[in-house]
Amino acid sequence: MKKPILVVGNWKMHLNTQEASTLVHRLSQSIKVHRSVEVVIAPSLLSLQPLSLEIDRRKFRLAAQDAYFKDEGAFTGEVSFTMLRDLVHYSIVGHSSRRISFNETLEVVREKVNAAVRNGIVPILCVGETKEEHDAGETKQVLHDQVTSAISGLTSEDIRDVVVAYEPVWAIGTGDPEKPESIKRNIDYIRMQVRELYGETAASEVRLLYGASVEPDFVHGILSIEGVDGLLVGGASLNHKQFAAIIDGAYQIAITRS
Ligand code: 13P
Repeated sequence: MKKPILVVGNWKMHLNTQEASTLVHRLSQSIKVHRSVEVVIAPSLLSLQPLSLEIDRRKFRLAAQDAYFKDEGAFTGEVSFTMLRDLVHYSIVGHSSRRISFNETLEVVREKVNAAVRNGIVPILCVGETKEEHDAGETKQVLHDQVTSAISGLTSEDIRDVVVAYEPVWAIGTGDPEKPESIKRNIDYIRMQVRELYGETAASEVRLLYGASVEPDFVHGILSIEGVDGLLVGGASLNHKQFAAIIDGAYQIAITRS
């Protein structure tokens, strides 16, 4: 059976709990229940608990934006995947904000992917090249290193549920997504890395998302690219009209795909 198109809203460090609740309420009014589109929101850690009590579970699932890889212990300021396991279905792991602003290494990202899976949380592993790496023609090398190191501790069973989001860092927040032909090339390349490590079945089941400057007008074009299984949306997911329009665009594509 075909998996639903996955649309994830990453709210980053925006919205307090009251604002998050208001946005969920508005979104809930604007979107319909579609079996063919799975909508996930990733609010701040602080809003996860209240939202888990408020959301209509037929419409939304929750994701954390990050968590620590140890299950418990003397790690002041951190929250573990173990603590989140009953609260979220997914967790973003290795977002470029974390890699760049918080110096998350390949090893840390791998530990976090393992910790998420160990705790029954589906990782949404973010990979993508910076502007410098893009300009230097290093995209494939970066994708290879980020993908293979992050998933190498998983079994071929684990890998089937994993989501990988390709986010070219240089296109995030610019209003200008990457061109469809290079999205296709890079998505194909990521799937090939999974195939080489885990075989054809795993490669065909792993879901690959595109993220960076996804806005309603671009949804049709991006989701028409073969191999793109969904979207990771930043800024536009903070606006209920835009996010609802993105979800609607995904639904239109899901109808044509089925
Ligand atoms: P924008 O959609 O704002 O470019 O952000 C993309 C992103 O980083 C989502 O994780």
